[in-house]
Amino acid sequence: MKILVATEKPFAASAVEQIKKVIVESGHEFALLEKYTTPQQFKDAAADANAIIVRSDLVTEEIIAAAAKLKIVVRAGAGFDNVDLKAASSKGVIVMNTPGQNSNAVAELVFSFLLHLVRNGFSGTSGTELRGKKLGLHAFGHIGKIVACIANGFGMEVYAYSPSLARNPELGKEHGVIAVKNPEELYDKCEIISLHMPANADTKQSINYDLMNRMPEHGIIVNTARKEVMNEADLVRIMTEKSKFKYATDIAAGNQGELVEKFGARVLASVKKMGAQTSEANVNAGIAAAKQIVGFFKSGDTTFQVNK
Ligand code: 3PG
Repeated sequence: MKILVATEKPFAASAVEQIKKVIVESGHEFALLEKYTTPQQFKDAAADANAIIVRSDLVTEEIIAAAAKLKIVVRAGAGFDNVDLKAASSKGVIVMNTPGQNSNAVAELVFSFLLHLVRNGFSGTSGTELRGKKLGLHAFGHIGKIVACIANGFGMEVYAYSPSLARNPELGKEHGVIAVKNPEELYDKCEIISLHMPANADTKQSINYDLMNRMPEHGIIVNTARKEVMNEADLVRIMTEKSKFKYATDIAAGNQGELVEKFGARVLASVKKMGAQTSEANVNAGIAAAKQIVGFFKSGDTTFQVNK
């Protein structure tokens, strides 16, 4: 079987080597397309692939239609909003993700952002500390749990909201978090919020004026989830009304230019999405993806399928 790794933003070289080893040693053919600049290049490379490994690369209906031999796509990472699941299902193509494999890298980035913001960009002016501050985790999956662990190390008071935690607050205790009943309570209680939900029909634009307005004047939101979950017009309104409010995002906002122009250093964004951009995360997610494909071709294993 031909297994294509198609990554506009490449994995670390060491990860590529290890992915290749898993594929070749299992008797499959390895193909690599990195740093492509047009969807056509992806389409051409996918034409004879039986399996594809991607990151945030857009796996559109067009790509799926062009890949006539395609059986499986694995998103090496957590969020699969970049894959057209409907188009894949209609062609009988299995789609999987690799949950948890890059979570630590994302969790560490949350604190890189936070320290940068509370220390005023290391500008020489007097900032604040994280110890004793109230951190709210909006959603509590693999990343949220690691963020909670690190936050406890910083001596923060950690709250979390997720539907499963709200149903079973006891679950929070083993991770050192206080479970709250709904998002409103989280934003009422916390001065710093870290977003960890996927982008889907329920969450898109869900971080809105009503929620953010519950936070204090000096509130901070860190978004290492997806830009689509943020209501960006409401963010401008909040940052205008609350003169010390800060926002950090791993994916530049749609209105990033406006945000930077209006609020300067109160807004922080990665140049390119950096959450999972460590060699450890690349190795973990990339190898998991390769092994999942090998397992699928060997025994039909569909664990982690997301388009059931
Ligand atoms: C994920 O969903 O796993 C992260 O957003 C990482 O995305 P990336 O692989 O494109 O960096």
